Amino acid sequence: MARAQSQSLSHPGCAATTRPQAAGVSRMNHSAAKRGGGDVMLEARGMSKRFGEHTVLQDINLSIQRSEVVCLIGPSGSGKSTLLRSLAFLENYDDGEVFVEGELLGYDRASDGRRVRSRPSRLSDVRRNMGMVFQQFNLWPHLSVLENVMEALLRVRGMKKDAARRLALATLEKVGLAEKADAWPNRLSGGQQQRVAIARSLAMSPAIMLFDEPTSALDPELVGEVLQVMRQLAEEGMTMVVVTHEMGFAARVADRVLFLDQGHIVEQGPPMTLFKNPQSPRLAQFLGNYLERNSLFEAAPALNRVDD
Ligand SMILES: Nc1ncnc2c1ncn2[C@@H]1O[C@H](COP(=O)(O)OP(=O)(O)OP(=O)(O)O)[C@@H](O)[C@H]1O
Ligand SMILES: [Mg+2]
Repeated sequence: MARAQSQSLSHPGCAATTRPQAAGVSRMNHSAAKRGGGDVMLEARGMSKRFGEHTVLQDINLSIQRSEVVCLIGPSGSGKSTLLRSLAFLENYDDGEVFVEGELLGYDRASDGRRVRSRPSRLSDVRRNMGMVFQQFNLWPHLSVLENVMEALLRVRGMKKDAARRLALATLEKVGLAEKADAWPNRLSGGQQQRVAIARSLAMSPAIMLFDEPTSALDPELVGEVLQVMRQLAEEGMTMVVVTHEMGFAARVADRVLFLDQGHIVEQGPPMTLFKNPQSPRLAQFLGNYLERNSLFEAAPALNRVDD
């Protein structure tokens, strides 16, 4: 993936954020708002994706409400990353539609009804409020931590240097790394680097954050500090889609868990319903593999670290 994409999905034409900051808004309020319904942030309708002859995603229907936290789980190769990337049009889906805050993503309708690829400026505009964090943090090694966070603010948002510096520092503070502002990325632990990557995305004021296994490249003892930042974001009302193998995190933080297998959403629901009472043999088998490795409903180490 292009480095610029990993840093921000925004573009210069959207200097002003269209969403009030989620910070300080309690999750309870958002949940109440959610019950009111109708505020769909991200939606896939009949979406399919093929790589050559291989259908990787088939007829995906998915609707994500404002402030909802959805975790995607499933075996390796089931299509989790492809789904996440298709939701941001980092992969161009083949059939169906994806809507971001009600706007069709990636395609436009021609006057004769045909679907045509959006121009890059239109694509950037539709996903202006999306941020994405990947397994690999992809920080610029030649820029300080602060400069890494400032970079897209200057280059994409066109902010003045002082304003970008203030915002970058405030965002680093939010992820607990203000004191590392002048450090070089390679002097940071993996967990700290991933928190910088989250800050870099967060500084762009996204309304939706997509995470693809953000902790899977980390040493086990560094996982908790990243999950803690993500949990804080969820509590502040950020809309989040998270591909994860951290079942403790999904159990504690997700509103809904989706189980993907062979490109289909096989099962979905509140985490504890899904985890305690899987309906499909495939999910039962998948969870069984995890339960063998760590005790999901007792003292799963990652879950404890989230609570620290
Ligand atoms: N660029 C590509 N070209 C061809 N096939 C691809 C490409 N990207 C993914 N695939 C295939 O699509 C399927 C789904 O891959 P994907 O990376 O979405 O799985 P995943 O669920 O994220 O797996 P993992 O848990 O290992 O990350 C796999 O069979 C994979 O080999
Ligand atoms: Mg993947």
